[in-house]
Amino acid sequence: MYFGNEKFKITKIVAREILDCRFNPTIQVDVWAGDGIFGRADVPAGRSRGEKEAWEIRDGDKRVFGGLGVQQAIRNIHEVIAPALISMDVRDQRSIDLAMIKLDGTPNKQKLGGNAIIGVSMAVARAAACGCGLPLYRYLNANAHVLPVPLLNYINGGRLTSNDLDFQEICIFPVGAETFRESMIIGWDVYNALREILSSKYGKLAVNVGDEGGFAPPIVSVKEAMDNLVRAVEISGHSDKIVYGFDCAATHFYDKEKDMYKLEGEYRTRAELLGFYKDLVKSYPVASMEDPFAEDDIEGFAMAAKELGIQIVGDDFLCTNPKLIRERADYCNALLLKFNQVGTLSETLDAAESSYRHQFGIMVSERSGETEDPILADVTVGINAGQIKTGATRSERTAKYNRLLEIESELGEAAVYAGRHFRNPF
Ligand code: PGA
Ligand code: ZN
Repeated sequence: MYFGNEKFKITKIVAREILDCRFNPTIQVDVWAGDGIFGRADVPAGRSRGEKEAWEIRDGDKRVFGGLGVQQAIRNIHEVIAPALISMDVRDQRSIDLAMIKLDGTPNKQKLGGNAIIGVSMAVARAAACGCGLPLYRYLNANAHVLPVPLLNYINGGRLTSNDLDFQEICIFPVGAETFRESMIIGWDVYNALREILSSKYGKLAVNVGDEGGFAPPIVSVKEAMDNLVRAVEISGHSDKIVYGFDCAATHFYDKEKDMYKLEGEYRTRAELLGFYKDLVKSYPVASMEDPFAEDDIEGFAMAAKELGIQIVGDDFLCTNPKLIRERADYCNALLLKFNQVGTLSETLDAAESSYRHQFGIMVSERSGETEDPILADVTVGINAGQIKTGATRSERTAKYNRLLEIESELGEAAVYAGRHFRNPF
């Protein structure tokens, strides 16, 4: 039998509690197989989480890490998941993921924890790649060759900061670069020009950074933030190479009771919010907008997808969930792919494939609580996604850029930077 090779059989799974970039505990999983085959993965954590995400088990004991400990999830790995997976072949990803889904038995991985399951799932993939002597992106796909355009989150707001900017992320998108490396050089120029502008206009505290390493200036108005960013792009001489993107994360400024959106201090109807977006798209070269309406506001998303003429990305709206993608495919046109939202690598790959079949763009994304594990860079190239969103600066973000730089040089002439074809790089 194909999956009978002793060398690939899982011998040991060890999980431990480590810290993410917010100093909160999270899980690291090691998977061992056969003769020295090893794979490790860290589990990221979101703050602006969608309601339909896979469940994250936290201990709740306030005396330890304020209740955020992950010891129970780790016990679930050691006592329930590991015994079931021992002797399975690390290359048999789908069966391993299915076994964990079955063991859990709940629709949102509430029993064993989405955080426990995704950690094991990703570490299994790393171990399989190790056993095959391949980098993970190549193990995932023999035709992996597309380097993504990075959506660089240079002005942070919403839940990622303590300023009063309602949009969560205001980003540059260097689609006019020729290579991923050039996108980083452009990114450096703009980031540093923006630092000068913000500190001279708003004082030195304005260049403190938010959770994703972008600046968190005391700005309330999206247009004011954009004017500063556009100026930074102009000063650095890259206007012809850059378009812009937002994560509105509108769930967080939606008032359920009033059924209105409170943006920049004003309550707005769906139509008024759409008008606000239309004005933005008219005023700046905006190419992408994520979660422009609340996570269940199908009517709002439908208007955005139909009337804005740009990429409308579903994050909380789709939760990387193949079922939601099928149901909501008419109301947006791109997937924000976060593997811990759905909870296994197999389901993540399903979500990607389903999205491509719906003619969607795919943006692979970090969480605001990341570790130094760059695994999502490999996943991005492995599915030829064309777009990645991994914040701005700080090592848990640059770890992903560094891995992409490494992959780009490893691929050499075979590497293709998605550039202006970020929605469909082929
Ligand atoms: P999260 O935020 O990781 O806190 O969910 C990122 C996003 O909304 O895209
Ligand atoms: Zn988002």
